[in-house]
Amino acid sequence: MIYNFDEVTNRRNTNSLKWNVAENELPMWVADMDFETAPEIMKAIAERAGHGCYGYTEVSDEWYEAYINWWYRRHNFAMKKEWLMFCTGVVPAISSIVRKITTPAEKVLIMTPVYNIFFNSIINNGREVLECPLKFGKNMEYSIDFDDLEKKLSDPQTTLMILCNPHNPIGKIWDKDTLQRIGEMCCRHNVIVLSDEIHCDLTDPGMSYIPFASVSDICRDNSITCIAPTKTFNIAGLQTSAISVPNKALRHKVWRGINTDEVAEPNVFAVEAAVAAFNNGEKWLDELRKYILNNKRYVNQYADKEIPEIHVIASEATYLLWIYCGESINSVEMCRYIRNKTGLYVSAGKQFSGNGDSFLRMNIACPGSVIEDGMRRLNEGIRLYMNR
Ligand SMILES: Cc1ncc(COP(=O)(O)O)c(C=O)c1O
Repeated sequence: MIYNFDEVTNRRNTNSLKWNVAENELPMWVADMDFETAPEIMKAIAERAGHGCYGYTEVSDEWYEAYINWWYRRHNFAMKKEWLMFCTGVVPAISSIVRKITTPAEKVLIMTPVYNIFFNSIINNGREVLECPLKFGKNMEYSIDFDDLEKKLSDPQTTLMILCNPHNPIGKIWDKDTLQRIGEMCCRHNVIVLSDEIHCDLTDPGMSYIPFASVSDICRDNSITCIAPTKTFNIAGLQTSAISVPNKALRHKVWRGINTDEVAEPNVFAVEAAVAAFNNGEKWLDELRKYILNNKRYVNQYADKEIPEIHVIASEATYLLWIYCGESINSVEMCRYIRNKTGLYVSAGKQFSGNGDSFLRMNIACPGSVIEDGMRRLNEGIRLYMNR
C-alpha cells in the first residue's frame, strides 16, 4: 500500500459539518470521508495557495482535458470539450437546472429511496416531487417498477427525471439495459434526464459504472449529466463540478441558467484541484477503493456474526452502506436513540423516502480502527433499542 488510509486525522475544530459533534460522539453520517485527500491534490492546492494572489479565476484548457481524459480512460466515454461547463457543485447545478428546464408546479420524477437533497432542489423551487418508489424484493434487492415509471413519465406535467447513477443510498450501479430503457421511456414522454453521476468513481474494485449519455443516441441527446471529483477525492468543500450536455439547444439553456444563478465561476482552488485529481489521483483512488471494500467486508462480517437484527444491503458502489433494520422500526427515533446511548451518529433512512424508514445509512469511508469503534457502538445501540 502506497498511501496510508489507516491514519486517523483529527477533524474536530476545523468547521467540519460532519465533525461538529460532542466529544464522545462518532459521526458516520454525511457523505464525506475521514481520509486526507490524495497528496497529489494537496500539493497542487499548496502551490496555488503559496502564490498569494487570489483574484477571479478562469476555467483553463487543462480543466476540460482532465475531465475528457479521465472519462475516456476510466469510463470508456469520449466527451467533447464543448459539452462541458464548470459549476460550483452538483447540488447548485441540479437546483439551477430544475429552475431553468421546468416551470413552477411541474413534476420532477425521482426513484426513491434517494439522496435527500434532490427533494430540496425540487420543493424549494416550487416544483412537485413525483416519487417512483423502487421495488424491494424478498431477496433484499432493489429494482425499478417500470410500469409505475412509465405511468408517471407519461403525466404531461412531468418534465424532468433526476437519476442517481450509481444510486445513493442503495449503492447500486444501473446496468446498460436499465439505463437504455429509462432513456427510451423518458424520450417517448418528452422528459429530460438529469443524471447525477457524482459517485461514479467510487465503485468496488473491478466494477465500473456506465455513463447515462454513453448508452445510446437517445440517452445522449436527451440528457444532462453532473460529474465531479469531489466525492471521489474528498474535496467537497472546494466546490468544484462539471455539467456535460451533448445536446446543443439544451446546453444553451443550462448554460444560461447557471450563469443567471451565478454558479458558473470557480474559486481559486476549484480548477487546480480538479485537474490534479483527474491527472494525478488515479493510484490513490485505486488504493482507496480497495480500502473501502475491506471496510465493507468487515462491516458485513461483523453484522452477520454479531448483529443478526440487521441486514446490510449488498452494494457495488459508494462508501455508504444501507442497513435494513426491520419493518417495525422508526428510523428517526432509532438513530436518535443510538446517538444518545452510544454516540454513534448515522443517518435515518426516512429522509431518503421510499421504504427508507426501515433503514439506517452508514458512511464507512474512514480508517479501519474507526469502523471497528462504529460497529461496536452500532451493536450496542441496536441491542439497547430492540430491548428497550
Ligand atoms: C447523489 C449526490 N449528489 C450530489 C451530492 C453533493 O454534491 P455537491 O457537494 O457537489 O453539491 C451528493 C453528496 O452526498 C450526493 O450523494
